[in-house]
Amino acid sequence: MSQHILTAVAWPYANGPRHIGHVSGFGVPSDVFSRYHRMAGNKVLMVSGTDEHGTPIQVQADKEGVSARELADRYNRVIVEDLQALGLSYDLFTRTTTDNHYAVAQEIFKGLHANGYIFPHTTMGAISPSNGRTLPDRYIEGTCPICGYDSARGDQCDNCGNQLDPVQLINPVSKINGETPIFVETEHFMLDLPAFAEVLASWLQSKEGDWRPNVLKFALNMLGDMQPRAISRDLDWGVPIPLEGWSDQANKRLYVWFDAVVGYLSASIEWARRSGDPEAWRQWWQDPEARGYYFMGKDNIVFHAEIWPAMLLGYNGQGARDGKPGSLGALNLPSEVVSSEFLTMEGRKFSSSRQVVIYVRDFLARYDADALRYYIAVAGPENQDTDFTWSEFLNRNNGELVAAWGNLVNRSISMAAKNFGVIPEASDLTDADRAMLERSRAAFPKVAAEFERSRFKNATTEAFEVIREANKYLAEQEPWKIKDNPARVKTILHVALQVVDDAKTLLTPVLPNSSNKIYAMFGGTGVWSGMPEIQEVTDEDGRSYPIITGSYEGAARWESTPIRVGTPLAPPTPLFTKLDPKIVDEELARLGE
Ligand code: MF3
Ligand code: ZN
Repeated sequence: MSQHILTAVAWPYANGPRHIGHVSGFGVPSDVFSRYHRMAGNKVLMVSGTDEHGTPIQVQADKEGVSARELADRYNRVIVEDLQALGLSYDLFTRTTTDNHYAVAQEIFKGLHANGYIFPHTTMGAISPSNGRTLPDRYIEGTCPICGYDSARGDQCDNCGNQLDPVQLINPVSKINGETPIFVETEHFMLDLPAFAEVLASWLQSKEGDWRPNVLKFALNMLGDMQPRAISRDLDWGVPIPLEGWSDQANKRLYVWFDAVVGYLSASIEWARRSGDPEAWRQWWQDPEARGYYFMGKDNIVFHAEIWPAMLLGYNGQGARDGKPGSLGALNLPSEVVSSEFLTMEGRKFSSSRQVVIYVRDFLARYDADALRYYIAVAGPENQDTDFTWSEFLNRNNGELVAAWGNLVNRSISMAAKNFGVIPEASDLTDADRAMLERSRAAFPKVAAEFERSRFKNATTEAFEVIREANKYLAEQEPWKIKDNPARVKTILHVALQVVDDAKTLLTPVLPNSSNKIYAMFGGTGVWSGMPEIQEVTDEDGRSYPIITGSYEGAARWESTPIRVGTPLAPPTPLFTKLDPKIVDEELARLGE
């Protein structure tokens, strides 16, 4: 039974290139998940894009001396190229500065407003006297009124941990230009989160045993303290507020997080339009059987497990004040928020300013995409904060990809190619042969169950067990020693090749590039697992921008398929690159260690 699966991937800020910490949180896991589901016969829609509004973009633009739009254009392109190079199979990777996105974000605002879940509220906002710009809370620093710590931020004090309001700070200064801010009254819109407290609580409680425990625990904890939340900002860069008297105010925009989370929906709508069936998005958003999985790093949980669900409930008219669905119709809530933990780099936090970083682009300039994908799948921060070390990368690459998997492929294919030139047939199977084939077939449902629950480590490890068994099988059968029994040699190699073919299927979600190569080595034609491509498209206003898209309807199916006896085999080229141990010191030197 085929299911509609929405893979909703967190939108990276277009304020700089992405590093491997980022892609280990949202990128590789969401792609592995999507590839698995396509192979299992489900209809996957995987969407995301660059997050281009708000303070994070404006602050970096000021630093680089360019406009926010120029900055977003520059890094949107860089990020698109990097994510495509990593092989992430987005059906659409777009951006938040499209006309379509503005329209959909505004529609959600209007629906929430019409149902009474958004209300205006006057607060005190800090502005910079020299340029009149609003200073975001966390860009103001001063002395904590509670503990006296002298570098407390406007939103909280890192010393005593208390939440603060910028007006409370003693001697506040702007971290951007050192000025003393002035405080003025300003009107904003608030999302009435308390109106969703009850339905969010029962929704989250129904996920017990289903979501990763840390994610659910975090989400349930947030329910304790639900306050109305400002969803507009004094800023000239963002989506205008779609209400009379507000939309033409140059300095009032939707809060970047409000528009960004709507991106999952707007990108689905854009994808449908580009696919030629503008209504097609509804199958993923309105069919009650459809499932939506959201992938991100843990600093994003609150937005996906509380704010976005609240926005959807309010738009549907399902909060404490009821209401009716907006013009798009009622929309599905997330089925699961799949958040990962943090990745550190050689024991330290990633930091672009301190050079504790490796960007995706630099990584892929020196190493293969599959090597990085493998590392993230098997050793990434799935359930706890995890340290990336170059020596572990080297060991896993050389020990697991090259020595265990690459070697199995290489030995089996080259022996068969040299002795027979084709995939040989099997004759009488021994118990050992049968056990090996059975072991490999039995891995399919086991590995599937792990992928379905986003347990990528277990899935990959389980697939590698088959490889380990196969290497053991070859070592025990020693086909290279058999001189006078070609039928037996053929049988052993047939079994080994069948297991290689199975393992390439099991590993396709994690290692699509190398699995595609093995598919071709076994005489497969056409595409096995589709790879993403970059297309240049134009927005309604004529602006041209790159998207990631692709046709992922390859031949890959989640099942063992019998290899075709008689298929010509050529001596294989190595699948993975063996790394020189000296790369560890070279990379550490780059980090300044
Ligand atoms: N840009 C945010 C970040 O990098 C993530 C946005 S995810 C979405 O933390 F929900 F807004 F799409
Ligand atoms: Zn304090």
